[in-house]
Amino acid sequence: MDQQQRQEIYETARQWIYEAGAQIRGHMNEPLDIETKSNPNDLVTVLDKQTEKFFVDRIHHRYPEHHIIGEEGFGDTLSQVDGTIWIIDPIDGTMNFVHQKRTFAISIGILHNGVGEIGFIYDVMDDTLYHAKRGEGAFKNDSQLAPLDKEKKIKEAIVGMNHFWLCDNKVVDYTVMQKFVRTVRGTRTIGSAALELAHVAEGVQDAYLALSLAPWDVAGGIIINAEVGGIAGDVDGNPWNPLKRSAAVVANPSIHNYIIEFLKEGRK
Ligand code: IPD
Ligand code: CA
Ligand code: CA
Ligand code: CA
Repeated sequence: MDQQQRQEIYETARQWIYEAGAQIRGHMNEPLDIETKSNPNDLVTVLDKQTEKFFVDRIHHRYPEHHIIGEEGFGDTLSQVDGTIWIIDPIDGTMNFVHQKRTFAISIGILHNGVGEIGFIYDVMDDTLYHAKRGEGAFKNDSQLAPLDKEKKIKEAIVGMNHFWLCDNKVVDYTVMQKFVRTVRGTRTIGSAALELAHVAEGVQDAYLALSLAPWDVAGGIIINAEVGGIAGDVDGNPWNPLKRSAAVVANPSIHNYIIEFLKEGRK
């Protein structure tokens, strides 16, 4: 993908994101037709589905050769990363959306032949857009984000993670995680993986750990983080695979390796 193509797709996607966000804000107080998916706490609403459909219809019409991976199933099932792929989470943080009516985001990552080219995370209620193009820096609205602090110390780090890390889980011995949360300065849980990644890129949080994330939770955020030096991968330190669900660590470069080594101690 050359710079001109990247710019054209970026501008088109950005306009669609603002439109989709306005539609969510305009309809969110109407009945949401809430359903559950894998378990009673895994929610989906009519606006998750309509928003994904909004993007899929427009992409099919304007870029018929592009592929789509979307959470709500309107996209394609892909087994390889050739060509241009849009990875879409129409509403990341559906539980926040339903219960709190805030702190949720539209998240989109656009890859070409497996390389992250364009990333967006749109905090819909805050009207804040985090965005990046490969090699051109990352931005929060019109302000460029600074490269991440290379001197960050683990004992001064704020880490996003949810409380399941401290319960029995399949990834890491929770007693090791109890030690971990006492090692860092503080922990936070905001309920939207995409916004957690945006905060790592912004430098207001230094890492985000997740026990299981899908490609659409992180695609936009990983591309944005790459522009400021944020490192993303699985809990064993392997690079991110855009076709696979996995546990994830996204962190400031000066503490990423420390976290991976810490997790090794309790890795199952
Ligand atoms: C969820 C959110 C949540 C994370 C879950 C995700 P969804 O995405 O990002 O913060 O803990 O693992 O599934 O379902 O609201 O798009
Ligand atoms: Ca969901
Ligand atoms: Ca999600
Ligand atoms: Ca979602």
